[in-house]
Amino acid sequence: EKIVVGVDIGGTAIKVGICDLNGELLHTYEGPTETEKGSDAICNNIANYARLIVEQSPYSWDQVEGVGIGVAGFLDIPNGIIKFSPNLGFRNVPLKAFLEERLGKKVLVNNDANVAALGEAWAGAGRGVDHCVCYTLGTGVGGGIIIGGRIVEGFNGMAGELGHMSIVPDLEAIQCGCGKMGCLETVSSATGIIRMAKDAVERGDRTSLSFVPNIMAKDVIDAAKAGDEVASRIVARAAFYLGKSMAAVAVVLNPQRFIIGGGVSKAGEFLFEQIREVFQKATPEVAVEGVEIVPAILGNNAGVVGAAGLIIRS
Ligand code: BGC
Ligand code: NA
Ligand code: ZN
Repeated sequence: EKIVVGVDIGGTAIKVGICDLNGELLHTYEGPTETEKGSDAICNNIANYARLIVEQSPYSWDQVEGVGIGVAGFLDIPNGIIKFSPNLGFRNVPLKAFLEERLGKKVLVNNDANVAALGEAWAGAGRGVDHCVCYTLGTGVGGGIIIGGRIVEGFNGMAGELGHMSIVPDLEAIQCGCGKMGCLETVSSATGIIRMAKDAVERGDRTSLSFVPNIMAKDVIDAAKAGDEVASRIVARAAFYLGKSMAAVAVVLNPQRFIIGGGVSKAGEFLFEQIREVFQKATPEVAVEGVEIVPAILGNNAGVVGAAGLIIRS
């Protein structure tokens, strides 16, 4: 019996999973990324965790068909090189070559959000839908485009970087981790929401958030749900640019379903209703018909399942 190892590399944790060839998740393991120790240490951790999870399972390393990896950042996908990952501090890291050497297995590397999108399309909220576009709202804003069940990578791997869609007008724009101004990520990520909240508090705006010691995105969303005006404006702004970006994507790709995951999506219908409203207002009616905006359902496991899917579905 063959198994596949899926790895999801995040800023704080590396999640590893063992899947069977149907994408059924059999075992999971999680260890620290140790971003502060630099890229060599992170690469070693990935290799070690992949070995460890198989050792601790009833399976043997011989049964491993390959290792799929999802990692945040701009990638040279065919060569498995991380070109630039602002949130992980990677620049030109040849992850695929390193891991193939260390593990002696086939390794496929792809973007974290592309992989999460593949997971959702395959076994989650996109099941049975041929065209879907996923957003992950976390530290950054990730994007993944699935057409005909496959990830759209673009000519050199940069497709689906929806978080860096330049969308906030210059007058209101701030600089993104990528170095450019006005990216979607600056307003619709958890980081962006937290920043806007802290700015408001510092400015002296009247808000219940002034009494929250270490503001998290969830605090802002909860305050908005409770009717706090400042928090409501921040969440509305995050939703506004998401809805606008979906309107742009809709007329380019005409996906049937937009799937939104990541921590911020836990805000639920409160957030989704606002996004749908903006989307519908901005998109020609005939292009709205039949298009759905729904939450992701695999949650934390989308990454590892999708990463395993890279191997299984290649
Ligand atoms: C990165 C993407 C990544 C996303 C979510 C963005 O800042 O550019 O590659 O998918 O964050 O982690
Ligand atoms: Na992507
Ligand atoms: Zn950017």
